[in-house]
Amino acid sequence: MKILALELNNFRNYKHVKVDFGDGLNVLFGKNASGKTNMLESIYLCSIFHSPRTVKDKEMVLIGESKATVSLTLKTKYKKRSINLQIDDKGKKKVLVDNVPLNRAGELFGVLGVVFFSPDEMKLVKESPQERRRFMDVGLSQQQRGYFYSLQRYNKTLKQKNNLLKEWRQSRNIDDMLDVWDACLAKEGAVIITKRIEYIRTLNDAASRFHTAISSEKENLKLSYESSIYFDGEDNGNIKTQDIEKKLYDSLISARAKDKELGYSTAGPHRDDIKIEINGKDSRKYASQGQQRTVALALKLGEVVIYKNEIGEAPILLLDDVLSELDMDRQKLLLDMTKGFQTVITCTEFNIDCGYNGIFVKDGTAQNVEAEQ
Ligand SMILES: Nc1ncnc2c1ncn2[C@@H]1O[C@H](COP(=O)(O)OP(=O)(O)O)[C@@H](O)[C@H]1O
Ligand SMILES: [Mg+2]
Repeated sequence: MKILALELNNFRNYKHVKVDFGDGLNVLFGKNASGKTNMLESIYLCSIFHSPRTVKDKEMVLIGESKATVSLTLKTKYKKRSINLQIDDKGKKKVLVDNVPLNRAGELFGVLGVVFFSPDEMKLVKESPQERRRFMDVGLSQQQRGYFYSLQRYNKTLKQKNNLLKEWRQSRNIDDMLDVWDACLAKEGAVIITKRIEYIRTLNDAASRFHTAISSEKENLKLSYESSIYFDGEDNGNIKTQDIEKKLYDSLISARAKDKELGYSTAGPHRDDIKIEINGKDSRKYASQGQQRTVALALKLGEVVIYKNEIGEAPILLLDDVLSELDMDRQKLLLDMTKGFQTVITCTEFNIDCGYNGIFVKDGTAQNVEAEQ
């Protein structure tokens, strides 16, 4: 799929702007704090419904204004589509796809596929497991709305269960209710774990190929799903969802006494992680700055490939500020790898000799420019 045009009104530092996109490489260039990342954020928002950087949606409304709008047109293999999103100053969001309002945020998944990479994304490798779970959840939700709905049901039930666990000391007889929540958590949790295991297995192939290509020392990247429930080392493949459900339910029951003491539920996919190894060493502990960047980039490029294989169309790759961190050879290599799908990249200056659609960003304005070749 390809973005054709984007129009922003009162979004971040843009009062009003409209720009066109080209099929291949699109370069947003301009000084720091001019609005480049803001524009990528608006595209991401049309895909995931959340900002990649803030949890307070109202921050995206131009200061002093009552609402922001983002309008995006795209073409898929089959048709042209439009996404119209509105955020008010309370942070309430509404979205229309092809002029039809959506009732559930999950319906937006799959309309516009994006993969976002920024220097911040390096935290994917070394920070808490929560970052890596989010990576899987966003990737999978984009490919399968059903996954997103399972996750929503799981999280809702988990919250209810945790509330109950906190009240335990006041009302001791909560076991019947816990049985109900645990059965539900085991059912949804097993779906989540199964899908994540498959996802990481396919991602491992794609990402390790990219990693070998971009790492100077010909390092070997290996990814595996690490579950507190089901982890038998080398091969956690070929496990059936029913088996995981049973195993998860048993773990929930055995953890119950401890969970009551702690006041929250300690077993399940909300505690799982991705194990990342380079040449057999755990990157979550030992990766250098450079390795973190290469791994994170390989994961994101891998995500593009598996999305394309699953959906039949490539998502849009959004690369924020990555070129400045790479030497010239790697910059060229990276741009080579992005051939074949639409990429939007931000930078302060762009000196690589290749065809692209340039968008010049300055103090909350943006305009298409002829490529300087
Ligand atoms: N809600 C908002 N209203 C007005 N300006 C904003 C808002 N949110 C962010 N900005 C401004 O946007 C600018 C940063 O834009 P950004 O896209 O991050 O820049 P860069 O081009 O460096 O990526 C800053 O000047 C910031 O003050
Ligand atoms: Mg920026």
